[in-house]
Amino acid sequence: AAPAQRPPVIWLHFAECTGCSEAALRTMYPWIDEVLLDIISMEYHETIMAAAGHQAEDNLHAAMSKYKDKYLCVVEGSIPTKFDGAYGKVAGRTFLEIGREVTKHAMATICMGSCATYGGPQAAKPNPGGYKGVSAALGIKTINIPGCPPNPINLIGTIVNYLLMGKLPAVDSNGRPLFAYANTIHDKCPRRSHFENGEFVTEFGSEEAKMGFCLYEMGCKGPETYNNCPIVKFNDGTSWPIEAGHPCIGCSEPDFWDEMSPFFET
Ligand code: SF4
Ligand code: SF4
Ligand code: F3S
Repeated sequence: AAPAQRPPVIWLHFAECTGCSEAALRTMYPWIDEVLLDIISMEYHETIMAAAGHQAEDNLHAAMSKYKDKYLCVVEGSIPTKFDGAYGKVAGRTFLEIGREVTKHAMATICMGSCATYGGPQAAKPNPGGYKGVSAALGIKTINIPGCPPNPINLIGTIVNYLLMGKLPAVDSNGRPLFAYANTIHDKCPRRSHFENGEFVTEFGSEEAKMGFCLYEMGCKGPETYNNCPIVKFNDGTSWPIEAGHPCIGCSEPDFWDEMSPFFET
């Protein structure tokens, strides 16, 4: 049964591509309509809210004051910190100002995706805008759900953990929930036996690729990447990058855009 007061959620969009919202809309356990109508109360979300312009701003401020210290803040996107944050604004205010104000009275701040967690591709060297993840930009502690995009089940699992247990889940030293990020892709990869047998794909479209051999030689970053993709997959368990024949690019690791590239080289 739904709780009497569904926990209010304020979802902020900063420097991002909205892929994380798109992923969240495709949650299947439960479906997004159940999440929005029965489980949480989404007070502000620029992509899905009906309000626009001043009315949207009014909604944000009304929710912040009505649920002061009682709402969850979810952030999608990173924060440009150079030039007083001038590279990113909503309603005339910088992401820096909005982020400080909204997270200050949140019960907890959850970073949805690698942009909010680590800065994202827009933080790639030389990073002229000084883009940073929310924790680094604002100097606050956050629960981090990295991935580009992350699996929506990892966000929903975090929120459901809070609803059922009254607390946020246990996290690792990067603030990532252990229920989702305790193992590497390589630990649980169905191609692992090929890795152990030295059976590698060396060319896309080859016989070895068709036989589902290990993608390590094609640049797979699964051995250094912590995420649960092989277990939960995407789109109702349909598939995930390695099952589709593409090496893992390490999309949930810190600075993967610089640290894991070139993506197709070991
Ligand atoms: Fe888009 Fe990836 Fe950033 Fe999510 S983490 S907003 S999918 S670039
Ligand atoms: Fe490991 Fe990648 Fe090979 Fe899977 S495809 S066994 S994750 S190196
Ligand atoms: Fe990302 Fe690798 Fe999973 S690229 S989606 S962590 S398989």
